[in-house]
Amino acid sequence: MTAYHTILPEQVTTWVRAGRTTQFPVGAGATIKVGDRQIAVFYFHRTDRWYACQNLCPHKLENVLGRGLTGEQDGVPKVACPLHKRTFSLETGANLNGDCPPLAVYPVTIRDGEVFVGIDD
Ligand code: FES
Repeated sequence: MTAYHTILPEQVTTWVRAGRTTQFPVGAGATIKVGDRQIAVFYFHRTDRWYACQNLCPHKLENVLGRGLTGEQDGVPKVACPLHKRTFSLETGANLNGDCPPLAVYPVTIRDGEVFVGIDD
């Protein structure tokens, strides 16, 4: 199984093109494949911010987070797994309502209307 780990902006060695900004749903997620990894990408219209995390929910190891509901908790952007509603911070990956391991999160940048996700390989 692929090992996921959080990538900090200073650790990025490759920016992977994920698609045009207009291809992503507002207030919901979309999933891209990067090698054998699945990465969920989210756009928060209200704050005009983008986030990316592993698509794999650490609770039951299902690739579903890209289909999760997004929202905010105390100002923290979050995604709720569609299966059992564990919620995770999209800033840190921390599980906000349980004791699941944290998600890997990835930097996202926008250039010329294209979405890029930062990885380290
Ligand atoms: S598989 Fe995601 S909360 Fe259970």
